[in-house]
Amino acid sequence: MIEIDPLPGVGAQITGIDLSGGLANADFALIRSAYAEHGVIFFRDQDISAEQHIAFARRWAPIDINRFLKAHPRYPEIAVLTKEADQQENIGGAWHTDHSYDQVPAMGSILVARELPPYGGNTVFASMYGAYEALPEEMKRRLGALRAVHSARHIFGKSAEYGKARGGRIGNAEAAERLEDSVHPVVITHPLSGKKALYVNSAYTIRIEGMPEAESQELLAELFAHCVRPEFSYEFEWRLGSIAMWDNRSTWHWAKNDYHGHRREMHRITLAGEPLSA
Ligand code: SIN
Repeated sequence: MIEIDPLPGVGAQITGIDLSGGLANADFALIRSAYAEHGVIFFRDQDISAEQHIAFARRWAPIDINRFLKAHPRYPEIAVLTKEADQQENIGGAWHTDHSYDQVPAMGSILVARELPPYGGNTVFASMYGAYEALPEEMKRRLGALRAVHSARHIFGKSAEYGKARGGRIGNAEAAERLEDSVHPVVITHPLSGKKALYVNSAYTIRIEGMPEAESQELLAELFAHCVRPEFSYEFEWRLGSIAMWDNRSTWHWAKNDYHGHRREMHRITLAGEPLSA
């Protein structure tokens, strides 16, 4: 029987389900509502092949192939996120949410652990429902009227240090240069849950639309510091067979880089989303 256990800060662990086969509609509906409600869901002891990973993803939405990450040699739908034993920089090693730089940001991502270091390599998640809820009412009113600009150029573009430091694992800088910045409401109404979530992030949000630069940077810095308060976050410890599925509209995540000298390989599928509104 499926059990859904909410976790402190953000997320829920789901047990009593095998993701390697076709899910009954009723089971899928339960998982979907847990995902909408909790922002990130975790599964343990799953044994799924690349094909089953893809099939599970397609159950949710069309696959949104990431332009910048290295694709699996046989399955272009899967982005391979590796850190080799002799590499220093990991991928996703700072707070972010995937694809907010897109005009229609991705709905979420499904990450499967394929090879893990003997220690460390956890992923930390933060709830943007929680961050929004905890804001003072006056700040909620102020943010409700604002929109923010998001960009990929400073992370994935030609002169970005991020891509250079991860040579070979991040590519397609030309696509980042061509990508038009996106503008999204600072507070969104989540398309699945109907709840309000703060939708800015410290990786890709570069300014508040129409606000003087200094004021915009000050407001964003205040929001970013607020969003990473420990009460909105949960640190997930990976084991082989673990799967995390997060919602990019209601959570942030950060892959810890604390396992130098060891290899870590994760397979990620990103799911297409829908236009966001306030
Ligand atoms: C990511 O998608 O940012 C990577 C997360 C991880 O490797 O834990």
